[in-house]
Amino acid sequence: MNKMTKSNKILIKTLFGLEETLKDELLNIGVKSVKVLNRAVETEGDIELIYKCNLYLRTALAVYLKIDTGITKNQNDLYDFIRAIKWQELFSGHKSIAVEAFTNSKTLKHSRFTEQKVKDGIVDYFRDTTGVRPQVNLERPDIKIYVHINNNTCSLYLNSSGTPLYYRGYNKRTGKAPVNDILAAGIILISGWDKKSFLYDPMCGCGTIPAEAYMLANNIPPTINRNYFSFKNWQNYDNKLWENIIEEAKRKINKTNTKIYGNDIDNKVLQDAQINFNRIDPENKIKLTNSDFFDIEPPDTQGTIISNPPYGMRFNDLDIKEFYKKLGDKLKFDYRNYVAWIISSELDALKMIGLRPEKKIVLFNGPLECKLNKYSIYEGSKKTNRKDYK
Ligand SMILES: C[S@@+](CC[C@H](N)C(=O)[O-])C[C@H]1O[C@@H](n2cnc3c(N)ncnc32)[C@H](O)[C@@H]1O
Repeated sequence: MNKMTKSNKILIKTLFGLEETLKDELLNIGVKSVKVLNRAVETEGDIELIYKCNLYLRTALAVYLKIDTGITKNQNDLYDFIRAIKWQELFSGHKSIAVEAFTNSKTLKHSRFTEQKVKDGIVDYFRDTTGVRPQVNLERPDIKIYVHINNNTCSLYLNSSGTPLYYRGYNKRTGKAPVNDILAAGIILISGWDKKSFLYDPMCGCGTIPAEAYMLANNIPPTINRNYFSFKNWQNYDNKLWENIIEEAKRKINKTNTKIYGNDIDNKVLQDAQINFNRIDPENKIKLTNSDFFDIEPPDTQGTIISNPPYGMRFNDLDIKEFYKKLGDKLKFDYRNYVAWIISSELDALKMIGLRPEKKIVLFNGPLECKLNKYSIYEGSKKTNRKDYK
């Protein structure tokens, strides 16, 4: 299959643990059937669906169009398979390219070598059929090709997103340890937050969690501010269709008065957070405060806390375990009637919170294995004396 048809196989990658959330997102935008894979899902659809996936899916890393599948027992088979694709129908030889490979095969073991072979096949195709040699650009290619080799089966894809979709297009990624935007969106969706009640991140850094919550509550597509998508460089790019999809998405934005607050002890990261918020929330509805969480009262009598407390460092001479114990005590004493979702890669320190997690979910923030724990805080949650955290 070389040309885009009405029904193409579409692969969408995500982070570990967010597969079911991504599936739900797809069903919500009208897709009928979704197959859940490891760190990915698969569905079928047309070019319109590919555009919508890039715009609407909060937990998608990248959206891939399957071009073809072939049997490639060795490097010669691979070269011939690639050389036989009518690449010109997909993109022009004047576009720059980059190839990314994943291999799980006895004969094609090395992904770098496979990438090279695929690149050679594409470049030779264009040179022989059009006389033009596509340039390779590993940093920011116009066209990204993805090759997945499993035993003798080679699946070939075009990456329609290009750079990963956590580049939302609005954010300055300068916090000390920002949580991946896709992960932040995934946590909020997993939490089942109703998009109406108070949401608070008391250690918000550059504001990824409040920003994702605000976009969700107001039905703002996550990449509405992003210009770069690789599909815009495809031969079949339909600018009118893309603009219609954007216009429709803008019409569906509904400004709510949902109360979303962020707080951080570090004024510098809050300045970045404010710059980020200005781009998605010009009316300044997300409120930021600059305080030590342990010194302030809850901003409301009830709500949902979603937060990614510090990890991997010492704070004001506090051991990280002591920090998490203090955090647990603060929640127990001051945040009754709240539900708190805490994500951290400090797995031992997390146990020091001293509240019984109602749910424990394994997720990854980049390479770091994390736990997302849910705590419902109510009167009986209190186990220690207030003085313990003062
Ligand atoms: C892992 S980072 C949070 C990153 C954030 N989710 C983001 O995406 O940018 C932890 C944050 O906790 C803040 N922090 C540390 N101790 C704090 C305290 N006592 N009160 C409030 N914030 C604190 C740090 O300044 C840092 O920004």
